[in-house]
Amino acid sequence: MCGIVGYVGRNSGASLSSAVLDDVDSNGSHGALDVVMEGLRRLEYRGYDSAGVAVLTEAGIQSRKKSGKLTNLIAELEAEPLPESLTGIGHTRWATHGGPTDQNAHPHLADDGRLALIHNGIIENFAELKAELLESGATFLSDTDTEVAAVLLGSIYRRVADAGTEDALTRAMQEACQRLEGAFTLLAIHQDSPDVVVAARRNSPLVVGLGDGENFLGSDVSGFIDFTRRAVELGQDQVVTITPEEVAITDFFGAPAEGKEFHVDWDAAAAEKGGYDSFMEKEINDQPDAVGQTLLGRTDAKGNLVLDELRIDESILRSVDKIVVLACGTSAYAGSVAKYAIEHWCRIPTEVELSHEFRYRDPIVNEKTLVVAISQSGETMDTLMAVRYAREQGAKVIAICNTNGSTIPRESDAVLYTHAGPEIAVASTKAFLAQITAAYLLGLYLAQLRGNKFRDEINAVMSDLGEMPAKIQQVLDNSDAVKKLGRDMANAKSVLFLGRHVGFPVAMEGALKLKELAYIHAEGFAAGELKHGPIALIEEGQPVVVVLPSPRGRDSLHAKVVSNIQEIRARGAVTIVIAEEGDESVAAFSEHVIHVPQTTTLLAPLLTTVPLQIFALELATAKGYDVDQPRNLAKSVTVE
Ligand code: F6R
Repeated sequence: MCGIVGYVGRNSGASLSSAVLDDVDSNGSHGALDVVMEGLRRLEYRGYDSAGVAVLTEAGIQSRKKSGKLTNLIAELEAEPLPESLTGIGHTRWATHGGPTDQNAHPHLADDGRLALIHNGIIENFAELKAELLESGATFLSDTDTEVAAVLLGSIYRRVADAGTEDALTRAMQEACQRLEGAFTLLAIHQDSPDVVVAARRNSPLVVGLGDGENFLGSDVSGFIDFTRRAVELGQDQVVTITPEEVAITDFFGAPAEGKEFHVDWDAAAAEKGGYDSFMEKEINDQPDAVGQTLLGRTDAKGNLVLDELRIDESILRSVDKIVVLACGTSAYAGSVAKYAIEHWCRIPTEVELSHEFRYRDPIVNEKTLVVAISQSGETMDTLMAVRYAREQGAKVIAICNTNGSTIPRESDAVLYTHAGPEIAVASTKAFLAQITAAYLLGLYLAQLRGNKFRDEINAVMSDLGEMPAKIQQVLDNSDAVKKLGRDMANAKSVLFLGRHVGFPVAMEGALKLKELAYIHAEGFAAGELKHGPIALIEEGQPVVVVLPSPRGRDSLHAKVVSNIQEIRARGAVTIVIAEEGDESVAAFSEHVIHVPQTTTLLAPLLTTVPLQIFALELATAKGYDVDQPRNLAKSVTVE
């Protein structure tokens, strides 16, 4: 939610090649602006209500900002080019306070235009601060909480600088942060400090990129991945000052603090479309790799699971008597799939709860509770707050996360990384499959800790998991029929999804993808729930996607869902059934059957989800929508 980039260098722009840079370069601008624009291009998935930049030039701070997508800012820069600079900041916004207008776009200026500030997060006490600043004669041009932070910082800066204090911008930032409440990442430049960008973070993401004679700041590493893969994660409540040669970190009171350096293990190419029309299409096609990479290196020579990263004492993990999975959206559906597997393998009661509901209902959590926090971004504020709450109650927290250097893993007791690679499309796809895979590994590991009686089953599941990348590839290779269905159904007003057992969260995930991308009503139901209400929605021509359990599975669920198909068919539904290869049971009375390779019941979601993703992608594309940046959404939801 909001992308932030900062840059300071003595030289830059030598090897830049992106489309955005070509646009900007054609204006003759280089240096900080090039770097910042490239960072914004990569971070635009975090918010696309407006974009803006500010650079330090000989004539002081100059900025451009524009509502709408980054292309609008590029056009503005073409019309009104900025001069060369070696220090700059840039912002791409997901609006919170104040609509998506030019005026509300960041940067916001203060100290008579000598200071520029950008912000991600929400400043909760902005009204009180604004009243105080208005009282002292300040004026405001926007409706944003950010401008309040800018004006506050500007006024503190003036006092501190006029008193002759060294490092006035850093000092002023520290003092301003002491007054701010809520969540914020702030980046500021001042025309009196030409080689400096000062930043601060509380509850919002910020990483530093280390260069040679240049340093970077970004909401995440994609903000500078074209220039360096050396990064530093910052702790909570820290201020960082970057110059071309130095990175200095303090707390909000000026005491020196340390960051943690890490290496980014993917490169810029991984964050490109790689020949696909959209990031989403690429990421759907990345899924065999995402699952394969997440499985890589998780067993020793004897076939035992080794989850080295889980640095929680084995005796603590053995004594766990309840598991609570906390997540939001797609990640919560991954948790819901994993619940079936974890309870089956470990016999530990497992609850899945939306993070934002969890801490407000006085949940029963204690030292014997293991919390599994699932988050692709590692920055979702609802999940972060739930993690903090659970730890305060004594629970141990294991994060399942796709983003190195992010906050949720840092604030958890341990982390199991998914290795899906960067997920740029706002709607999650490959992270979902990787999260299920990682949660399954965790479940198997907990089962392993509970004794040898599970050994054979663990070996069998690991072997089946090992086959999944190739089977996912088969689904991708045979996707023409589902693509055509998506295109043919572009005018559908509503699509229902039914599933049972692990197919139920898959159905909800299929519905979520369609809502997000195609903006049509879509709902996922447990097939067994149909006759308790939702069947009233069925009328002539209503499309219903049904995730059919395997006929080889237990408990005759297959037969029950086949009956459900008959029931809705009798009432006029048009059914699209996702069935396993060889299952012809519904061929005679279903309009469309999409087959996926056979696997076990628990692993089926890794296959049955894929046609639903493709269906949503094709349908939304046929409607002419931007599948990578659906309206009103942002990739990392860093506000509550
Ligand atoms: C849906 C989607 C969201 C996220 C949710 C949690 O396609 O992407 O529902 O799954 O916002 O995000 P993370 O996993 O980053 O915590």
